Amino acid sequence: MADDTRARGVPRRTAVTGAVVIAGAAAGCARYAEPSAETPAESGAGAVEEGTVIGAASDVPVGGGKVFADKKMVVTQPKKGEFKAFSSVCTHQGCAVNKVADGTIDCPCHGSKFAIKDGSVKAGPAPKPLPAMEVSVNADGKITTGSGKGVAPGEKPPAEEKPPAEKPPVKGLASTKDIPVGGGKVFEKEQLVVTQPSKGEFKGFSAICTHQGCSVTQVKGGTINCPCHGSKFEVTDGSVRSGPAKKPLPYRSVKVDGDQIRLA
Ligand code: FES
Ligand code: FES
Repeated sequence: MADDTRARGVPRRTAVTGAVVIAGAAAGCARYAEPSAETPAESGAGAVEEGTVIGAASDVPVGGGKVFADKKMVVTQPKKGEFKAFSSVCTHQGCAVNKVADGTIDCPCHGSKFAIKDGSVKAGPAPKPLPAMEVSVNADGKITTGSGKGVAPGEKPPAEEKPPAEKPPVKGLASTKDIPVGGGKVFEKEQLVVTQPSKGEFKGFSAICTHQGCSVTQVKGGTINCPCHGSKFEVTDGSVRSGPAKKPLPYRSVKVDGDQIRLA
């Protein structure tokens, strides 16, 4: 898409963590577009490649912000010329925030509100701030991603990591014994569901509900269940057994290595 244009070669790009202050005439930046109620809010903010153009700084109002749904980012401008960027994935149950109003970034699912200046929680139930994102502003007034990694407010961006000399042995996610036949297990950290529809047959699915992006939390009665609005997905193929979700859970590759289940 056009917004994904790489900004290589653009002169005078200034990278900062979570905030971009525009000097002189250069504008600031951020990314996202208004999400619909059906927009899945996969977590994993920061998956956008470094240098990706988010949008025009002029689209971000002073004292407000703009949600760039396709980039899973919110860009705010708490003060004129000061731009900040955050993940748009709500830290409560992973819905996509969809509005910036009255100084807060708002989640439609259960009403959490986050401050535009630092992503901190102004109203629950969200337990944690929205992670700040690193962005840059180029000479054309376009907002571009910096490192693309999420950085919690007040934290320094992670230092460049050197690749380890030797890869440590990869531990499996779980033992095949942990996955009940006819059922499954949710791996919250990996945002993954592994099911075993029939003995010895293992399947992997995204744990992000395709309705409004909550994390599914339970596998019971032959379905993978979302707590937010009750959507249920078949353990056999992730298809919708009951809504409001309309789309199946996407497949994710898993492999069985001995008695260990790993992400492929
Ligand atoms: S308030 Fe955002 S997911 Fe619950
Ligand atoms: S987010 Fe609405 S049912 Fe899952």
